[in-house]
Amino acid sequence: MGWKSHRPNHGNYRPETPAIIIDEEIFFFRLSLPLPYYFCARMTKSKNIAILASGGGSNAENIISHFANYKYAKVKMVLSNKENAGVLEKAAKFEVPTKTFNKEQFQAGKVLEWLKEAEIDVVVLAGFLWKMPDEIIAAFEGKMINIHPSLLPAYGGKGMYGMHVHQAVKEAGEKHSGITIHLVNSNYDEGAILFQARTTLEQDDSAEDIAAKVLQLEHKYFPRIIDALCKQQ
Ligand code: GRF
Repeated sequence: MGWKSHRPNHGNYRPETPAIIIDEEIFFFRLSLPLPYYFCARMTKSKNIAILASGGGSNAENIISHFANYKYAKVKMVLSNKENAGVLEKAAKFEVPTKTFNKEQFQAGKVLEWLKEAEIDVVVLAGFLWKMPDEIIAAFEGKMINIHPSLLPAYGGKGMYGMHVHQAVKEAGEKHSGITIHLVNSNYDEGAILFQARTTLEQDDSAEDIAAKVLQLEHKYFPRIIDALCKQQ
């Protein structure tokens, strides 16, 4: 099936029905430029990406590797609220600078200060578990994205992260799950949806099987959507 171009209305848009069907996986894609734009390099300056993550960092690693030796954007820093988060080692492997912070520093504006100092254009939340302070949300409006391991608005909100999501999906006997990539606003998992992709679940899939299927989609699509977002800045 072909692409259908789709001009967004702004605000907290929630698709009731698929806006775009390209193949079985992708059923929603929305960025504010016509699609051909994303395939031609019309960028003036290379964009700086910061990744915030709290965990193992498989997405962060995948994103760093996507943008390594890339002309139009690069991952300039990785920030974590956990001293021992796996993501820090993964970033170091690619020689991406890392910093950690505690709640006090986070709330006192330290992270925003670092983001500004490093001239960050796009902030990526890849498994980052703390709620973003309003100042960061305001400073990066339309430039900060999160990935959620379900088809929002289903299985989103406070407490819905990691295996909690996949267990709830399993218990509900869902036939599909998937990923949602959305802009970040001040409510958990409620920013405008940019992209969703889904995967079919089998009756005997365990919560771990669901997690693995969903993670595969995350790795496949998250870098591409970040790339597209960088190109529209
Ligand atoms: C992913 O499932 C993502 O959707 C969620 O946190 C998880 C992070 O996994 N927000 P990893 O640390 O990137 O492996």
